[in-house]
Amino acid sequence: MTRIFSGVTPSGHLTLGNYLGAIQRWVSVDQHRSPHPEDSLFSVVDLHALTTEHEPARVRRLTRQMATLLLAAGLDPKVCTVFVQSHVEEHTRLSYVLECTATDGELRRMIQYREKSAKQQTVRVSLLTYPVLMAADILAYRTDEVPVGVDQAQHVELTRDLASRFNQRYGHTFTVPRAVLPPVAARVMDLQDPVSKMSKSAAVTTGTVSLLDEPAVIRRKVMRAVTDSGSEVEYDRAERPGLANLLEILAACTGGEPAALAAEYDSYGAVKKDVAEAVVELLRPLQERHSALCADPGYLDEVLRDGAERARALARPTVDAAYRAIGLL
Ligand code: TYM
Repeated sequence: MTRIFSGVTPSGHLTLGNYLGAIQRWVSVDQHRSPHPEDSLFSVVDLHALTTEHEPARVRRLTRQMATLLLAAGLDPKVCTVFVQSHVEEHTRLSYVLECTATDGELRRMIQYREKSAKQQTVRVSLLTYPVLMAADILAYRTDEVPVGVDQAQHVELTRDLASRFNQRYGHTFTVPRAVLPPVAARVMDLQDPVSKMSKSAAVTTGTVSLLDEPAVIRRKVMRAVTDSGSEVEYDRAERPGLANLLEILAACTGGEPAALAAEYDSYGAVKKDVAEAVVELLRPLQERHSALCADPGYLDEVLRDGAERARALARPTVDAAYRAIGLL
């Protein structure tokens, strides 16, 4: 049986990047891989939202909103486990032990740490140690596969290193997991700045499609996407990043292939129009279900309570084993 774990951080509104890079596949493939809900775990990882300047009420609100959106996207609590990270204390319990396995040098090499710390005046220690907590999220469940976008691949690589190192030094305790990336749209780019990742924490949101954007807003953002000066429609990530991004989004929405799609168009405008409609249609059912779920907050509470209970029972024995292995009484 393959165990799957993945998560989203409530640090901003979920974007089309999060959806195409990760959530879409959790819903369509990952949650159905095993008949047991214990084998596919999806978490709103709220502790990770505290690593940079944050507003407590906003984190609380976004945590609920993200959990609701995961259900609206199609995660089914009968076939998978959906929970909030801070409800399961095993994550932080394990994180400390893994901090005693990781080195300062390897954490400082993490690309996200280097990029984010360069933008802050004061850097929280948790921004440095965050990949270790992420490793704990994964290893606590003896996870085999971690479906993520490409920006998280380095953190999963670190997780593999920590798991192997711990196992070698203290005896076999953890499964060594692997990252699984989507075939297209593993790195959806900002529509206004196609050499930067579309990010939920972007200061300017004109290049970011949020999952709850109204159809008119989505159309406007896509139609105004920055493209390149060429006129022929070709899929070329290096030379025409703006157009390539649009073709990848279209491919991920429609199940096509970017280069093959390019051949069907003779103008950028036509590509943009089809991308806008594909995204609107992709998000329409999700937005409708989101509104329905918001009308019944008690249902979400119940799903998260059950999910946390199930997750706790799964993580406990592994974290206990790690404590024993490393020398704690
Ligand atoms: P987060 O919340 O930034 O992103 C959630 C998921 O969305 C993917 N993603 C993208 N994919 C394609 N294009 C983009 N522009 C894009 N932006 C984001 C991310 O790769 C991710 O899969 N540290 C993680 C959350 C986390 C986690 C974990 C994930 C914490 N613990 C354990 C997996 C396993 C994060 O901040 O993701």
